[in-house]
Amino acid sequence: MSLQIATVCGYLLGSIPFGLVLTKMAGLGDIRKIGSGNIGATNVLRTGNKTLALLTLIGDCGKGAAAALLFTHFVGPEQGIFAGAAAVVGHMFPLWLRFKGGKGVATTLGTLAAVNWVMGLVAALTWLVMAVIFRYSSLSALVALAVAPLAAFYIAHDTGAGWLALFLAVIVWGAHHTNIRRLIKGTEPKIGDKKKAAA
Ligand code: G3P
Repeated sequence: MSLQIATVCGYLLGSIPFGLVLTKMAGLGDIRKIGSGNIGATNVLRTGNKTLALLTLIGDCGKGAAAALLFTHFVGPEQGIFAGAAAVVGHMFPLWLRFKGGKGVATTLGTLAAVNWVMGLVAALTWLVMAVIFRYSSLSALVALAVAPLAAFYIAHDTGAGWLALFLAVIVWGAHHTNIRRLIKGTEPKIGDKKKAAA
């Protein structure tokens, strides 16, 4: 029963669309009609408002981390993993937005860091290094999430964290199919690039 409760609570927490709420509150309109249409920090940055992008990043990372940490602390590690995974699913398929949410990168990184900080640190550093070198948010996320399960299995030696990271990598990679197409075609916008990311 506690796994089901963790999953439902994690999903509800993850489904809070910080990017959408913050940009609406700031009077910037509907972020789903700007840039790539994504509700995440990368697209909020395309509005030109760095503070809102940072707040979106903190909110999206934080909800994944909070779901995993709260259930790990008060119930158990297995429930923490389920709550964190469900938070990512909630972000990507939120009930309130007719199941059309974000791509789940920040929420995944928050969840991974909370479940196993070594794995989270390796994933976050990979994202950062890739972003500094190539300046593609999507490419950085794809590589970071591919590295995360390897870090869990071979560096942290945490099997539960590894399977979680693998599951999240699969669904987040799936959500990036248009980004992958654009990366291959060479039309993917770089970080901070305000030009429209054609679907
Ligand atoms: O975190 C999402 C990022 O990887 C891509 O975002 O808006 O360029 O599709 P976007």
